[in-house]
Amino acid sequence: MRNVSYITTPIFYPNAKPHLGHAYTATLADIFARHRRLSGDEVYLLTGVDENTEKVVRAAIAVGQDTKSYLDGVVSAFTDLFSAQKLNISYDQFIRTSNEKVHWPGAQAMWQKLVDAGDIYPASYDGFYCVGHEAFVTEKDLIDGKCPDHNEAPEHLKETNYFFRLSKYTDEIKKRIESNELEIIPAARKNEILALLEQGLQDVSFSRPTGKVSVGIPVPGDSTQKMYVWCDALTNYISALGYGRDDWLFRKFWYDGADTLHIIGKDILRFHAGIWPGMLLSAGLPLPKKILVHGFITSGGKKMSKTLGNVIDPDVLIAEYGGEAVRYFLARHISPFEDGDITLEMFKNAYNADLANGLGNLVSRIMKMAEEHHHPASPIRHPTERLFSRAGPSSTEEGILESYNIQAYAEYISQEIARLDRRIQETEPFKLVKKDKTAAQKIIAELVNKLSHIASLLQPILPTTAVKIHDAITQNRMPEKPLFPRK
Ligand code: MSP
Repeated sequence: MRNVSYITTPIFYPNAKPHLGHAYTATLADIFARHRRLSGDEVYLLTGVDENTEKVVRAAIAVGQDTKSYLDGVVSAFTDLFSAQKLNISYDQFIRTSNEKVHWPGAQAMWQKLVDAGDIYPASYDGFYCVGHEAFVTEKDLIDGKCPDHNEAPEHLKETNYFFRLSKYTDEIKKRIESNELEIIPAARKNEILALLEQGLQDVSFSRPTGKVSVGIPVPGDSTQKMYVWCDALTNYISALGYGRDDWLFRKFWYDGADTLHIIGKDILRFHAGIWPGMLLSAGLPLPKKILVHGFITSGGKKMSKTLGNVIDPDVLIAEYGGEAVRYFLARHISPFEDGDITLEMFKNAYNADLANGLGNLVSRIMKMAEEHHHPASPIRHPTERLFSRAGPSSTEEGILESYNIQAYAEYISQEIARLDRRIQETEPFKLVKKDKTAAQKIIAELVNKLSHIASLLQPILPTTAVKIHDAITQNRMPEKPLFPRK
């Protein structure tokens, strides 16, 4: 039977157009999804946007638009960035949490389950709320009375909310994480969350008074309250599969033992490894199997920010270098487990070294020799379908990918590229052909074969380039244009 995999990105806040951090999460998720599909798994990849937030309302007001048209605009910026012409994110669904038909029934069904379990209770809240974080903050989170991340004083709130009895689930969540039933990758993040669980989880506010928020899903049975952020947002992972409505996808990709993988950034770990498992336990639903937690992308060693002027727009990189080059950089030069840095200069250097002089040049050299001197007896089969099980990776290569270290995998491929370059230098088949044609042809055949293997390995990272290389090999011709022109 085929393995079934469910992979998700977080739902992005659509209060501004996507930045490189969003591109990173989505690209990582796509690389794993493609890898698993190539290994023969049945995969469902989910991405989307987290729309029911005050951040969006404020952003729309700031530019004089109504919330809906503002959202539609930002959503098209996301889907455009993820399209085949750009980052090529092979998602099966792009969920919008403002969609009352797709998402709301699931969020409300989840709420009802929590109520049925006796885990929702009203209480008054008196404290601070940061709209930037969409979270309740305490005085110790503030510097000079302001949220240091958003440079803004939080709102003081005194109101009645429904709370979720998260504290009740601390021990069970801890047990599941310790035993790796819910595996947190990498281990450092697992330890971080275990340390937090050691202190005990606190109950969390799950609703806000209807009059105080402009958007949000109504709380079932109480029109005076709307759901607040996390119950709504986290439930997207199952509402997208039809939880609360027509739920065959939900059975298949969540309930019946599918390999479920959430990919998130480090800032939202506590929500995904605390609140989310707590909600699922309360609702009597299976927990996800794995959460992969990546770091932050910085620029010039600093957090990207408009004020510092160091924000890198993925569209600018794509316009200059193409979507595949951006995918390659993110895979090869950013660690999936720690913070990683990027500047425009680093990107250009890496592009020229790895892609123009490295891979692109290698393909041209080998295919030029092949076109002139190699005459394959039978046409080489185009090996893109189910590659990993045929000409696919060895156990070492597969092993690296299975440990989620996409950077190590990309590094391994670049070593293979360098090895093949050296092999050409050492054997010089273009010279040898004049003295011993048969020997030279044998070497060229070997080079083509190895190049085909490299293209196979590259598929999850560079899907379009991999097909171009395989096409060149099948047609025994040099690509018409260089794959990666030098910049
Ligand atoms: N809407 C919430 C997630 C809800 S999931 C049920 C959210 N949205 S976000 O737009 O702020 O962030 C989305 C993802 O992008 C998160 O995984 C976050 O870690 C990631 N990134 C945001 N900035 C980033 C960088 N500079 N670098 C890498 N990823 C970062 O949180």
